[in-house]
Amino acid sequence: MLERKTPEWLDEAWENTVRKTVRVSGRIGAGFPHASVGGIYVLEAPHWWTAGFWPGLLWLVYEESSNASLRELAEQCEVKLDPVLHDYTRLDHDLGFMWSLTSIASYKLTQSAASRRRALQAANYLAARFNLQGRYIRAWNPWREGENNAGIAIIDCCMNMPLLYWASKESGDPRYRHIAEAHMETVLEHFIRPDGSVYHIVQFDAFTGECTGKLGGQGYAPESAWSRGTAWALYGLTLAYHHTGERRYIDAAKRVAHYFLAQLPEDSVPYWDFRIPPEVTKYRDSSAGACAASGLLLLADKVGELEAGVYREAGVRMLESLYRNYGAWHDSGEEGLIRHGTSHYPEGKNIDVPLIYGDYFFVEGLARLRGGRTIFWE
Ligand code: GLY
Repeated sequence: MLERKTPEWLDEAWENTVRKTVRVSGRIGAGFPHASVGGIYVLEAPHWWTAGFWPGLLWLVYEESSNASLRELAEQCEVKLDPVLHDYTRLDHDLGFMWSLTSIASYKLTQSAASRRRALQAANYLAARFNLQGRYIRAWNPWREGENNAGIAIIDCCMNMPLLYWASKESGDPRYRHIAEAHMETVLEHFIRPDGSVYHIVQFDAFTGECTGKLGGQGYAPESAWSRGTAWALYGLTLAYHHTGERRYIDAAKRVAHYFLAQLPEDSVPYWDFRIPPEVTKYRDSSAGACAASGLLLLADKVGELEAGVYREAGVRMLESLYRNYGAWHDSGEEGLIRHGTSHYPEGKNIDVPLIYGDYFFVEGLARLRGGRTIFWE
């Protein structure tokens, strides 16, 4: 049996996480933080794709601390998303990120019937984005008048599929799962390169379904290797295996994991892209590291014991480095937990700052290591 030693830094990391989350919750409240700029989390409108991460983090801390005020804030965030679910006409594929960490989290922890209904409604909207000809979930709506992006699919969407798997299980209707599986087949065919690196964006002809190209998106270039996209694939494929038991998903997850781990620098926290020319600044993206670490811990649970150590040790090493070298535990002028995330380098947005999804996945990784916790994607 693989020895599951509890890392000696884990209790201290969890205590620091709870203490800081309680402190910053006094300022953030039921808001929707994205990036911490100058030490203060900038709050976004509730329709922004990151809206689930703060309430998701609050639920993770609530589950173990039973801190009622954190639960209330998470519930308020969920209610604040209702106008987005009911009245907003530009909901995109990020429905999974948004309602898995709010409504599914609430339903799993409190059995709220209203939360269950919201999550099923979100799943319906997500399923409706499926393009039958191309067998992909459409990513976005037009960003500007006249733009046509009906043929765009992105690697991030792997993490939205758990909403569909959940909806199938919950409703007993396999159609959601069929759609998720069809999308994931497309991911295997068009997004994952033979070496385990991934494309961010794949473009299809929305009418014929033919693949028409690959785009760089948030990576440096179409043929580069955006690290957060690689983490979305690693974790998303592992979750696809968790929900379906289909071998090809875990084989691909392992291939992506091996690529990811082979690219890590000395401190085990990735650069924002694994393939950038020397003149481009190699900022870290701690959020990619946190997401990959949590995914690696799940992957370790899914493989045989002779393999598990490789993934678990890597996940633990990454979380420890994030905790010791990137954590802002004793800086009262910084609201973020984990420094040095990179949101969107090509657009020059939120570079080298704490990001709420980095904080979320770091805390999720700790929750996994503490064992027996509810993980909302599963
Ligand atoms: N597009 C979501 C992300 O920045 O990873």
